Amino acid sequence: MTLPNRPRLLLLPGDGIGPEVIGEVRRVAAWMAEHAELELEIDERAFGGASYDLYGEPLTKETLDAALNSTAVLMGAVGGPKWDATTARDKRPEAALLGLRKAMDAFANLRPALCFDALADASTLKREVVAGLDLIIVRELTSGVYFGAKGIDTLPSGEKRGYDMQQYTQSEIERVARVAFELARGRRNKVVSAEKSNVMDSGLFWRQVVTALHAAEYPDVQLEHQLADNTAMQLVKNPKQFDVIVTDNLFGDMLSDEASMLTGSIGLLPSAALSTPGKPGLYEPVHGSAPDIAGKNLANPLAAILSFGMALRWSLGRPDLDDRLNAAVKKALDTGVRTGDIGGKNSTREMGDAVIKALAG
Ligand code: NAD
Ligand code: IPM
Ligand code: MN
Repeated sequence: MTLPNRPRLLLLPGDGIGPEVIGEVRRVAAWMAEHAELELEIDERAFGGASYDLYGEPLTKETLDAALNSTAVLMGAVGGPKWDATTARDKRPEAALLGLRKAMDAFANLRPALCFDALADASTLKREVVAGLDLIIVRELTSGVYFGAKGIDTLPSGEKRGYDMQQYTQSEIERVARVAFELARGRRNKVVSAEKSNVMDSGLFWRQVVTALHAAEYPDVQLEHQLADNTAMQLVKNPKQFDVIVTDNLFGDMLSDEASMLTGSIGLLPSAALSTPGKPGLYEPVHGSAPDIAGKNLANPLAAILSFGMALRWSLGRPDLDDRLNAAVKKALDTGVRTGDIGGKNSTREMGDAVIKALAG
């Protein structure tokens, strides 16, 4: 019988390597249910291209309702060449993800980049640049250029143009900046706000709003404004200068892929997209569906496993199990297990096995 208070986790494996990495999460969750008193109701639904192929919709109403009625949602990855060329934009797998983020109002996307000691040599950057790295990008996720007016039309001259409008309201900036300042208070107390206030009015407005909020509510936190192109450069030059970076939807997308390589691989980066208190969080690895390695048992499942950890911490009321999971991942890496992206030959399954073994031991 379902207990009314039992948290509900909705799994959306999605496309490409999504089902493979979520498969490992399912095994970790099963281990915790058996050995660590994790009380969890787990449901699973097709999402993205997989859903489109089944139902003609990448996000069905039933799946959206299930997501909104869950305690947390964990997505694998969506998209792939199969749907790129021919599928209408609003039916594409990526549209399902944007629609889900918006409907869940999952506006604060936490993307931590942490360099595990055992992997300090896996980065393409020098060990001394990345060893000990621990930063977090807070990416605004439900507005900006992703959600502005967009289209491809024909001008009176007959020439065609494509456009996407960037925009932010004051409350959208304030609420994501608040999350960044609050996080910083629990860490090293430093926020870098990244925008392009030198060329974009929306960037100038972003800077004004963050400045005013800082003065009014967070004067104890160290705040630095950076132009986002400089932030991209600083991330490679001296990434350990960063504690919390707060930025918009598009810059956050790019800076987090860049930050992933500081840790060794994009296959390591988890994320949590948080909404207002009481609403379900959306958890997803930062990587995509990796069509080049999909279906081959080669993908690194750690980003997905660590995303589950973030769900345990932020939505499922078990931060202790997130701590245990992080320690287990560290221990597994210390034993030398490596998927191809971090320079080894182990499979997706073997990496999952190593984490479960480390949890048990
Ligand atoms: P990608 O992240 O899928 O892959 C980029 C590179 O990283 C590839 O070489 C891939 O093999 C590698 N990689 C990614 N995840 C890995 C993992 N866990 N283990 C080992 N290697 C890994 O980005 P892309 O190739 O630009 O995009 C492919 C598709 O994924 C596109 O359709 C895109 O829209 C989609 N995408 C989805 C998400 C998401 O669902 N959140 C994120 C990014 C891209
Ligand atoms: C990400 C992805 C998505 C984004 C795509 C798949 C819509 O790149 O989560 O980083 O651009 O937000
Ligand atoms: Mn991305």
